Amino acid sequence: MTANSQGNKSSHSEIKYRRDYKSPAFFLLESKIYLKLSEQKTTVISSLNFKRNLDSEELIEQPRQLILNGVKLKLLDISLDGVSMPRSSYQFSEEYLLIQDLPDQFTLEITTEINPQANTSLQGLYKSGDKYCTQCEAEGFRNITYFPDRPDVMTIFTTKVEADKTKYPFLLSNGNLIDSGDLENGKHFATWHDPFPKPSYLFALVAGNFDLLEDTFITMSGREVALKIYVDSGKLNQCHHAMESLKKAMTWDEEVYGLEYDLDIYMIVAVSDFNMGAMENKGLNVFNTCFVLANNKTATDADFEDVESVIAHEYFHNWTGNRVTCRDWFQLTLKEGLTVFRDQEFSSDMNSRAVKRLKDVLAIKNGQFAEDAGPMSHPIRPDSYVEMNNFYTQTVYSKGAEVIRMIETIVCNSGFKKGMKLYFERHDGQAVTCEDFICAMEDANNVDLSLFRNWYRQAGTPELDVNAHWDSSKGKYTLTITQYCKPTPGQPHKEPFLIPLRLALFSKAGEMQNLDIANSDIKCKIVDNGAFSGKEAVIEITEHHQTIVFSGLNEKPIPSLLRGFSAPIKLHFGFSDQELALLLAFDNDSYSSWEAGQMLMTKLIVNLTGDLLEDKPLSFPIELEETFNNILEVKDADPNLLAMNLSTPSLDFLLEQFQEVPWNELVNAYNYFNRTLAIKCHGNLLSTYDRAASMADSDRENASGWRKLQNACLSLLGKAEETEGISLAIKQFKQAKEMTNSLASLKVVAHSQQADKTKWLDTFYQRWQDEELVLDKWFSVQATNPERDVINEIYQLLEHADFQISNPNKVRALITAFAKGNLENFHRLDGVGYKLVADVIIKLNKINPQIAARLTSSFNSWRKFDNSRKELMKHQLKRIVELENVSADVYEIASKALAYN
Ligand code: BES
Ligand code: ZN
Repeated sequence: MTANSQGNKSSHSEIKYRRDYKSPAFFLLESKIYLKLSEQKTTVISSLNFKRNLDSEELIEQPRQLILNGVKLKLLDISLDGVSMPRSSYQFSEEYLLIQDLPDQFTLEITTEINPQANTSLQGLYKSGDKYCTQCEAEGFRNITYFPDRPDVMTIFTTKVEADKTKYPFLLSNGNLIDSGDLENGKHFATWHDPFPKPSYLFALVAGNFDLLEDTFITMSGREVALKIYVDSGKLNQCHHAMESLKKAMTWDEEVYGLEYDLDIYMIVAVSDFNMGAMENKGLNVFNTCFVLANNKTATDADFEDVESVIAHEYFHNWTGNRVTCRDWFQLTLKEGLTVFRDQEFSSDMNSRAVKRLKDVLAIKNGQFAEDAGPMSHPIRPDSYVEMNNFYTQTVYSKGAEVIRMIETIVCNSGFKKGMKLYFERHDGQAVTCEDFICAMEDANNVDLSLFRNWYRQAGTPELDVNAHWDSSKGKYTLTITQYCKPTPGQPHKEPFLIPLRLALFSKAGEMQNLDIANSDIKCKIVDNGAFSGKEAVIEITEHHQTIVFSGLNEKPIPSLLRGFSAPIKLHFGFSDQELALLLAFDNDSYSSWEAGQMLMTKLIVNLTGDLLEDKPLSFPIELEETFNNILEVKDADPNLLAMNLSTPSLDFLLEQFQEVPWNELVNAYNYFNRTLAIKCHGNLLSTYDRAASMADSDRENASGWRKLQNACLSLLGKAEETEGISLAIKQFKQAKEMTNSLASLKVVAHSQQADKTKWLDTFYQRWQDEELVLDKWFSVQATNPERDVINEIYQLLEHADFQISNPNKVRALITAFAKGNLENFHRLDGVGYKLVADVIIKLNKINPQIAARLTSSFNSWRKFDNSRKELMKHQLKRIVELENVSADVYEIASKALAYN
C-alpha cells in the first residue's frame, strides 16, 4: 500500500477480502476521548484501555502487536500506562500505528492533532457552516484519532468536548450528559457517557448553535425519553413532521417487534453538508437537512414521505445495527438490508402498502438491476472491496431488503418475527455476521435455508423463462420454468437460487381460479387465508428446470406471475398484448397489474425502436390507446395507483432491455411514445386532471395521492406539444399553495419550448432564494431540461453564487440529476455531456472522493452503447483513472468500469 501526501491512495490500493477476516488481537474495555475543538488545530487525547484477546488459539500464538488505524493525523504523544513512549517503541505510516510487545492489559494515551476546517471529505470531524460534526461510518473514526477502527471492536465511550461557549453553545455526543461547565477564556465543556458498548463507526460529536425542538416519548415499559431535534436557527417550523415521524417509528417498533428505545435521550441534528442521507450514531443521529426539514410550503409530498422513512430507518438501526452490529464491513447488508426492510414495512403500515411496494420495486428495476448487470455487480455480501464507501450500494441496500423479504415469505410473517426474537436473544451486544442471522431464522422456524444462502454468495439478477402448455382435453395447464443467471465479474457460473414465486391463475373474465397443483415434487404453499384462499400459491423454485402442473381447469388461464414481486428477478413469459391488457384491468395484485401495464408499454417502445432502425413509419396501436383510456375512466381507482399506472417506463430501465442500445432510435421512439400517448388520451387526461385537482382540495385524507395523479396527468399533457398543457401548468404554478404543485408545474414549463420559461424559473428563484433545499430543486429542474442548451446552462450554474461544489446536495441537485436524469443530453453524440460530468468528477476527486466516486458510476453502462459513444465514455474514464492524485474511491469505480466486458 502506498499513499501520497494528500492521503489519497495511489492506483494500486489494497484489496480487502472477506475470507481474510481475523479476530482482533486486543479488545477495548473502555475509551475516553477528549476533544479540544479549534477550527484548524483540534487536539484529541484518547485514553484507551486494552485487553488482549485470549479467546482464540490462533491469536495466542501470534506476537502481541497492536495495530491502530489513523489517517491524516499529526501524532503528538503516546504514553503507555502513564509513561511517555520513546519514538523507537512504535512504528507509524500514513495509515497505521503499530506497537509491539505489549502486556495483556494496558492503557494507551494518544494525543493527536487534526484540522477540521480543511476537511472537505466530510468524513471524520469536519465543519458544516459554523458547526462541527462527525461522520464515522464506515472508516471515518481513524481521521479523528488512532484507533482499532473496525466494527468488531466494541467499547464504552466517554467523550469530553471543549469549545468556545459563544460560538458553540451546544456540545453533544453519544449517550447521557454526565458533566458540563465553564472554563477559562470563554470556553466550556460537556462530558457524555454512553453505557452501551459500540464500535467506533457509531461515535458522534456535534458542536454549534441551534434551534431546538423538544418532545418526550414514554416507552412501553414506562420510561420517559427526551426527544430533541437540533436545526439551524429559523428552521423550527420545518421540524414538526420529523418529530412526529420519530414518535411513530418508536411506537411501531414496540408494537411490531417489541423493541424499546434504551437511552434516556434521542437527539437528531440536521446539517447542510453531508455525504449521505443520515447516520444512526447511538443516541445522536446526524442527518442531512433534506431528510429533516419539511413543511408544505418548502417540501413536496414525496419529501414528506422520505423524511418519515429516513427518520424511521435511522431509529430502527438502534436495534438492527447498534445493539446487534456487524462483525466486519462485508456484512453490511446484515444491518442495512434488514433495516431497509424494516423501514419499508413501517412506511407500508403508515401509508399505502401497495404504493410503497411499487416504489420499492421501481428502485430495484430502474437501479439495482443495472448495477447487477454492470462492472460493479456484487453479491449482497461482497467478497472484496478497495474502498468500503463504494459498497453502500443499491445491491447491499435494496436487494438486501428483498432477500430479507423472501425469508419472510418462506417462513411466514409470524415465523419471521420468531426468528428476529431469537436473533436478538442470541446476539444482543455482539458484532455478528449474515450467517448468524440466517441461523437464527432457521433455528426459530426449524427450516433449512442452505440453498437460500446463494442469494448472499452470488451476484447478478436471476432470470426465469416460463413457458405454458394448455391441454384442453384434460383441463391441465403446465408451466415449464427455467432459471439462469448471467455471469458477473469473478462469477462465470451460478448455482440455482431458491426463488419464491407467488402466482395465481385468472380466467378471461377476470376470475381467480382454484389452484390444484398435480405434481408433488415441488415445494408449494397454497395461501389459505384471506380473500385469495386456495387461489394464490407460493412455489419454491430450487432447480435449473422445473415443471408445475395445474389441473381441474375449465379454460386456458392467464397466469399472474411473481405477484407482489416475490423475488428480485427478471421473469419472461410470452404474454400477448391482449393478456397484458386484461391483467392490467383486473389483476387484484397491484404489482402484477402495474407490471402488466409496464410490459405493454415496454414492448411497444422496443418495437418502435426496431421500426425506426428499419426506417418503418411509426404508429400507435389503437388497442393500447383504448387500454389506457379505459384505466383513466375507472373513477373509483386509487389515485396513487392510477398515477403509477400512468407513468411510463424510464429510459434507464428501457436501455437495460437491449444488449447493445440503438440510442438515437430508442430516445426517438420513447419521445414519440410519450407524446402520442398524451395526444391519444388527451380528453381523459384533462378531465382526470380536473377531477384530481378538485379532489385534492376536498378529500384531504388522500390529498397527496390526488396531487400525484393530477401531476402525472399534467406531465403527460405537457408532452402533447400543445400550448394547452403549458398554459395549464402556468396556471397551476401561479395558484399553487404547496411545493408539490408548484414544483411539478415548474418542471413542465421549464422542460417545454416555451419562450418565456426563464421568467418562471426566476420567479421561483426569487421566492425561494433563502431556502437552500428549495434551491436544490431549482437546480435539478434546470439540470433535467431535455433541450440541448442545457450543457451551457449547467456550466453557468456551476458558477452560480448559490452553488458550492463542496456541498454534496448541490452536486447531486445539479450534476447527478443531469448524469442520471437527463440521459438524452448526457449521451449526446458530441460528447459534451460526458465531458461535463468528468470535469466535475475531476474537481471533486480532491475535495470529496466519496461523492466523486458516486458520480463516476454514471459511466458504468458504457459497454451497452455504440462505438462512438463507447469511445467518448472510455476517453473520459481514462482521463479520470490517469489523474495524478486519483483517490482510491474514484479509482476503484473507474478502473472496474474500464476493465468490464
Ligand atoms: N448507516 C447509513 C449511513 C451511511 C452510509 C454512513 C454510508 C456512511 C456511509 C444510514 O443508516 C443509511 O443507510 N442511510 C441512507 C438512508 C436510508 C433511509 C436508506 C442514506 O444515507 O442514504
Ligand atoms: Zn442504514
